[in-house]
Amino acid sequence: MSTRQIKPFNAIIFGGDGDLSKRKIIPAFFNRFIDCQLNMSFKIICVSRKSDDEAAFKKELMTFIAASVDNEIQPDKQNEFLAHVELLKIPETTVKDYSQLAKILRSQSEWQRVFYLSVPSTAFGEICKTLKASSLINHMSKVVLEKPLGNSLKSSKEINATISKAFKEKQVFRIDHYLGKETVQNIMVLRFANHLFERAWNAENIESVQITVAERLGVEKRAGYYDKTGALLDMVQNHLLQILCLVAMEPPSNLKPDTVRNEKLKVLESLRFFTKNNVQNNVVKGQYTRGTIDEDKVNSYLEDIEEYNSETETFVAIKTYIDNWRWKNTPFYLRTGKRMKKRYSDVVINFKTMPHNIFPDSKHPLKNKLIIRLQPEERIELVQLSKIPGPGGYRFKPISLKLDFVDSFNERMPDAYERLIIDILRGNQTLFMRHDELEAAWKWIESIKAVWKELPLNLYESGTWGPGDQVLDKAHKWQTN
Ligand code: BG6
Repeated sequence: MSTRQIKPFNAIIFGGDGDLSKRKIIPAFFNRFIDCQLNMSFKIICVSRKSDDEAAFKKELMTFIAASVDNEIQPDKQNEFLAHVELLKIPETTVKDYSQLAKILRSQSEWQRVFYLSVPSTAFGEICKTLKASSLINHMSKVVLEKPLGNSLKSSKEINATISKAFKEKQVFRIDHYLGKETVQNIMVLRFANHLFERAWNAENIESVQITVAERLGVEKRAGYYDKTGALLDMVQNHLLQILCLVAMEPPSNLKPDTVRNEKLKVLESLRFFTKNNVQNNVVKGQYTRGTIDEDKVNSYLEDIEEYNSETETFVAIKTYIDNWRWKNTPFYLRTGKRMKKRYSDVVINFKTMPHNIFPDSKHPLKNKLIIRLQPEERIELVQLSKIPGPGGYRFKPISLKLDFVDSFNERMPDAYERLIIDILRGNQTLFMRHDELEAAWKWIESIKAVWKELPLNLYESGTWGPGDQVLDKAHKWQTN
C-alpha cells in the first residue's frame, strides 16, 4: 500500500465510544498510523454523550486495536498513537455543548476536519445543523455517514436534504464498508483489466449470477438496532446491491468518482421492480431457530433478542433481473443470512452450456463457473472441465484454476475501513455512495417492502444454509461452500 502521507486533520467521531468506532474506525486509523501514512499532525476526537473517563476508554481501545493487528504492538507506538486520541463528552446537541469542540478545532484552523457520524441516522440532521450553527464547517470539512441512511425512501431523502443544508455533495461520504474490501474492488480490476472475462460478461454467455453473504454470527449485542432493521435493510439494501452494481455495471470511461457512480446508478435504475403478483415466487425471508454451528449450540433469534413475537427476518433470498441490453433475462440471485453454516461471501458467475456438444458421453454439462470469493479467504476460482487422463474415451472432471490472494501477494490485507478513511482524508469519493444511488436502491427495496408483511416467514435451523433452496426457484441450485 502506498504510504503517501495525509495532510494534517482532525477526525471528530460522533458515537466515538460506540462499538463500531472501537472495533473498526479507530483501529483503522491505528493501522494507517503504524504504516506511517498519518504524519504527526492529527487528532482523533471521540465524542461521547455520557462518558469523560478517557483513561478507561483508552484502555478498552487498546484491546480492540490489539485484535486488529497481526503482530505484537510496540508499547511506544501504542502510546504515541493514543496521544492523538481524545475523549470529549458532549451531552446535548446544542451550540453551547459544542463550544469545547469549537475551541479545540479553532486552535488548528488550518487542519482539515472530518466529522464522522457513527450514530443512528435520526441524529444526523441535528448534528449537522449544530455544526453549522457553531460555524465549524469550512471548505476543508467533510462529513461521513454510516449506514443505515434512514429506513425508507422518504426518510433517506429527508436525511439527504438536511445534510445538504450544511455540506455540499462533494463533502459527503456515505460509507458502505463492502466497497472498501480489497476483493470487492478487485471485481472491477478482474472485469476491466483482463480481456478474457469482459468479452463474455453478458446475457449471451452467462446463465445466472449468484451473490451470497453468509454469516455465522447471530445478532450479537445489536438486538435493538437489528430487530427494527432486518436483513433486507441491513444487508441487501446496501452491501449486496453495491456488489451487484460492480458485477453488472458497464465499463466506466475512467475512475473519476462521478463516472463510476453514474454507471452504478444506471444498474440500480434498471433493476426490475417487484409487484404484488411476482414477489411471492421471487423473494424468501427467514428467521433462525436454535441449532448447532461447529459443535456449538446456539439460541434462536427470538431467544437472542429476548422478544418472542418478533417477525424480523435474519435471512433473505431474492431472484431479480436487470432490465438492460447486457443482462436481458439473466437472473441475479442474492442471498444473505445470519447463523448460517459458515461465514463466506462470494459472487458466482454461471456460464451457459457450450452451444454444441461433441462429447456425447460426458456426464457433466459443458459449462464453466467463475467464483469470486470475497471473504474469508480471498480468491478467484475458474471451474472448468478437464479430461481425466487415461485411455477409454473422454471422461471429464470439473477442476478449478485457483488464484489465492494470500499466496500471490505478500502484503497484509488491510481492513476495509483503512482504505475508506484514507480516501475520505484525500477527498476521493469513488468508493462512496452518491445520494441518487442511495435513492435508487431505496426505490427498488420499497417494491419489496410494500408486500413484506404478506410474505411468509420461513424458520430455518441455525447452522444450515437457510430456507432459500426449498422455496426460491427450484431450477436454481445454490452454490454453497
Ligand atoms: C454490517 C451489518 O453492515 O455488516 C452487520 O450491519 C453485518 O449486521 C456486517 O454483520 C457484515 O460485515 P462483514 O465485513 O463482517 O462481512
